[in-house]
Amino acid sequence: MAQAQEKKDIWSADLYGEKVAPFVATSTETILAWLDPKPTDEILDIGSGEGPLTARIAPHVKRIVGIDGSPNMIEHFKNSYPHIESRVVDCRLLDQESDLITGGFDKVFSNAALHWILRDPETRSNTIKGCFEALKPGGLLINESGALGNVAEVHSAIISGLVTQGIPVEKAREASPWWFPSHQAMKGLVEGAGFNWVKGEVQLRQTTLTENEKGGVEGWIRLFGEPFLELLPTTEARDAAVKHAVDVLESVGRQQHDGSFTVNYIRLRFVAQKPE
Ligand SMILES: C[S@@+](CC[C@H](N)C(=O)[O-])C[C@H]1O[C@@H](n2cnc3c(N)ncnc32)[C@H](O)[C@@H]1O
Repeated sequence: MAQAQEKKDIWSADLYGEKVAPFVATSTETILAWLDPKPTDEILDIGSGEGPLTARIAPHVKRIVGIDGSPNMIEHFKNSYPHIESRVVDCRLLDQESDLITGGFDKVFSNAALHWILRDPETRSNTIKGCFEALKPGGLLINESGALGNVAEVHSAIISGLVTQGIPVEKAREASPWWFPSHQAMKGLVEGAGFNWVKGEVQLRQTTLTENEKGGVEGWIRLFGEPFLELLPTTEARDAAVKHAVDVLESVGRQQHDGSFTVNYIRLRFVAQKPE
């Protein structure tokens, strides 16, 4: 049976939703249109985070359950939305969650989370198998996550920052917490679990970062890049790596007209169906 290695909880609801990346839960028009919530729907939201998107969907459906691997995020979820079901689940081993994989959901939904959850090749198929088993026959899996090349400039700059602090490039690469698959690789994984691929698309979404004190590109790197920075033993070394990455990115993402900072997000969206 597959096992998942324990991971540190890097998620801070206060930093994530308020300071660094409020756009994650709000830049969602297309995937919400693809979700097409119905009053009869029972939905499982995997990697729901602190729940702002789950809460937007909730009034339009019969039931929605938010699950997330981060105790910090779920604590925040429960405080903000006590009327919506939520709980801590490491979705890498979703196929071992016996009370969720009962074939009772009409839809499994996920936004901006599968590239984290599917990072480890050993447990990738456990997650997708869990989605399959959670669904009724004919049920839909609807996802948006990072595609091949997502945030490539920031990803590269962080690796470069680690290398300047003496980390071998292979080790820096290996520390990446993400799996950004091509359209074809995701389709293969999903079909391999028994789903029929309904539709998929890859889209460049240039995204303006926040400007506040804990945000910007530095805030982004410190929050989402934490698994990389953990390789460095001292605060000084981390600060130097972050500074290097920010300096490298300065001429890449800074807008000339208003000074705002843009990151090239590349999104992979798909809908897949469990056969009737
Ligand atoms: C960028 S946030 C997206 C949250 C939310 N879906 C939204 O759209 O705002 C990614 C979420 O994936 C969760 N996550 C990462 N690895 C996970 C795992 N193995 N199991 C469950 N959730 C995980 C994180 O805890 C985090 O809340």
